[in-house]
Amino acid sequence: MTDASAWSRAAVSGRRVGHTVEHHGSLGSTNDRAREALAEPGGEGRAVVADHQSAGRGRRGRQWLSPPGHNLMVSVALRPRIEPARAGLLGIAAAVATRDACEAAVPRAGLLLRWPNDVVTGDGLKVAGLLVDTALADDRLADAVVGIGINVNWRRAEMPAEIVERATSLADLAGPELDRVALLATLLDALDREVVALESGASPVARFAEVSALDGRQVEVQVGEERLEGMAAGVAEDGALLLDVPAGRLALTVGEVVAVRDPAGAAA
Ligand code: BTN
Repeated sequence: MTDASAWSRAAVSGRRVGHTVEHHGSLGSTNDRAREALAEPGGEGRAVVADHQSAGRGRRGRQWLSPPGHNLMVSVALRPRIEPARAGLLGIAAAVATRDACEAAVPRAGLLLRWPNDVVTGDGLKVAGLLVDTALADDRLADAVVGIGINVNWRRAEMPAEIVERATSLADLAGPELDRVALLATLLDALDREVVALESGASPVARFAEVSALDGRQVEVQVGEERLEGMAAGVAEDGALLLDVPAGRLALTVGEVVAVRDPAGAAA
C-alpha cells in the first residue's frame, strides 16, 4: 500500500490539472468526491485518488472492480472552457492522455484505444477505462468530472472470472510492479496538456485515430437496447464513432463496442 502522503508528489502547484492531489484510503466513488470538490474553494483541477472504492462505477451502470491498493483510481474535477458542441471531445482527449501515460509506463506495450475511451492491448484486453460525467447549465458545459481507472499491479492470476477473459494490467505487461504515484504524475501531466490544448481549440481526434483499435474493423455496438453491426470508419470531429452499416454511415455519440472482429471474421 502506498503511504498516503506520497500521493501529493504527483501534484504540481500552478498546473491546471492536478495542482493538488487529495488521497483517500477508502471512498464510495472518486467521481462523486470530485464533483463535491467543484463546490469547494480550489476544487477545480483537484485530483481525487482512492486506494479502494466501495461504490466504484463503470460505464453503462456497471461496477468498477479493483482490489484495495493495487490500481490507480483517480477523478479530476474540471470546469472546462469549451463549448457544449465539443463536450464529447473531453472524453476523447482524456483517453489519449491515459493511453499515453500507460504507454510511457510500459514502453512498447503497443496500447490502443477502443472508442469511446478504453485503453486496450493489441489483442483487446482492457487495461484502463474512463467515466466522464459532464453537467450542462444554460446551454453551456458547466463542469465535468473525468474518472480514470487503470489496472496497474493487479495480476491476471488474481482477477475474478468475470473479467479475466477481457482484462489485464500494466504489471502483467511490464513484468515487475509499477510505482502508482509516478504513473499518476505522468497521467496528470498528460491530462493537463490535453485539457489546455482542447480549450485552445485543438482537436485530439487525429491522435486518437493513430492508436485506434477499431478503424477499418467490423464491430458490434450496443446502443441502448439496439445492437448495431458495421465497419468502424473513424471518429468524427465531435468525438462520435463513425459506423458504416448497410444503410449508410452512422455517427454514434453514445454506445459500447461489444465485439470486434479480426480481418478473418472471428470475434476478438
Ligand atoms: C469503464 O470502463 O466502464 C469506466 C471505468 C471508470 C472507473 C473509474 S475508477 C475512478 C473513477 N471513479 C469511479 O467510480 N469510476 C471511475
